[in-house]
Amino acid sequence: MTAVGIDAVEVWTGNLKLDLAETFADEKGKDPAYFTKGLGLRASSLPDSYEDIVTMGANASKKLMDRKGLEPDDIGRIDVATESSFDNSKPISTYIAGCLEQVYEGDFHHANKGERKFACIAGTQSIDDAYNWIRAGRNRGRAALVVATDTALYARDDSGEATQGAGAVAMLIDEDPDLVELSTEQGYGSADETDFLKPNQQFPSVDGKRSVQVYLARMREALEDYESVAGDVRLEDFIYAPFHTPYPGMVRKAAALAYRHVTRDTPVEEELAESIGRQPRRESFDDDGEYEEAVREYMDALKETEQYQDWYAATVDPTLTISRDVGNWYTGSVHLARVSALKTALESDRDVAGESMLVASYGSGAQAEIHGEVVQDGWADEIAALDVDEQIAERYDLSWAEYEQVHDRHNHEMDSELEEFTTPEAEFVFDGWGRMGERKYTYVE
Ligand code: CAA
Repeated sequence: MTAVGIDAVEVWTGNLKLDLAETFADEKGKDPAYFTKGLGLRASSLPDSYEDIVTMGANASKKLMDRKGLEPDDIGRIDVATESSFDNSKPISTYIAGCLEQVYEGDFHHANKGERKFACIAGTQSIDDAYNWIRAGRNRGRAALVVATDTALYARDDSGEATQGAGAVAMLIDEDPDLVELSTEQGYGSADETDFLKPNQQFPSVDGKRSVQVYLARMREALEDYESVAGDVRLEDFIYAPFHTPYPGMVRKAAALAYRHVTRDTPVEEELAESIGRQPRRESFDDDGEYEEAVREYMDALKETEQYQDWYAATVDPTLTISRDVGNWYTGSVHLARVSALKTALESDRDVAGESMLVASYGSGAQAEIHGEVVQDGWADEIAALDVDEQIAERYDLSWAEYEQVHDRHNHEMDSELEEFTTPEAEFVFDGWGRMGERKYTYVE
């Protein structure tokens, strides 16, 4: 069977930066370690006044098309995943196609376009749609463009304000991919939850503590479901495990849970038993409370072991490097985690072609999905072509007062004007409103 997967990826960060450990911590009188150690974040990316989900998505897409030498005719499908949409009818993909048509010969009239919504997991779902479209033989030799783009802003003083971010990830889904092949096996954990939602409002209603528990519960279900179709997952089966990363501290919790699950009834559990005992089993306890307390104690001890820490440092920590400097990109976040991992491999001269990754996506509301990916021969060239470090380094560093203005500028209810902090160069910019309330965009050379 011909491989189908991600052929190329490009990243576009919002052009502004809010330093959390300095600016945010100073303003709120918080210990910087709350951000850097507790949440695991140094900074958030934020959009300049001329940026939004369309400009960031179109800019990432243009970089991808230019690098791969693509014309509109090569792309048969454009799916945008976002939870920051500003239109309940016209999909963001039409705006992005309109932008791209300003700078390429030809058009996207032949391309099927849509917008996917299921919180942060919609980017992965859009990849699925593209995968299925290609596998069904409906693509007529064309590739699919998947764009995950979000301005992940919270209401001022919300507990999530420290985890904000803004950016886009564009991915080309095709046969014989250069980056990763996607597994046909998938596992799901999906339930009707009210942990994080936006009922016709721009900023989310969040039950932060509960959202963490829901993430873990759905992820556990997805792993069990994945194993039911792919067989038991073993530690040695995958080199990296990119998770949806609302903030690295969340992944730290999910990774420990996954490790406990995957090592249960294996020689690793027996080896660990010498220092921390065997994992608690429900049948050995009279009630749930006692069992849960024993699990908490086991997890605390597990996280202190050399075996766990070595595994985490090699398999999970490399997926978090970009997230630490940009915050949550919602739909793009797990796809940044994949890029982070492969970038770490490249920087340490490790050839990972043929190796597998276990990719764990999540969307509030809530659904987790787990699948496998095999790294392809062209991965190193694809990752070497990215300029994500330069983009991160070149962001304008906001003062607190400037941050407040930026937040107001992007608040749909405030309609505030703001001079830009950065000068757009070779990128699409928001350029005002059309007669029907639509947003207008131009390309600045
Ligand atoms: N030094 C070091 N560590 C510190 C510290 C200090 N001075 N102060 C606190 N910490 C640690 C805490 O011990 C805690 O560690 P653990 O997670 O290991 O227990 C960590 O920092 C966070 O502290 P709190 O739990 O007290 O943080 P909080 O309650 O203020 O905020 C949050 C956490 C509720 C998740 C909040 O960031 C939030 O609401 N975020 C938005 C929702 C979210 O991201 N949920 C994640 C799951 S849902 C999802 O994934 C979808 C999505 O993208 C939104």
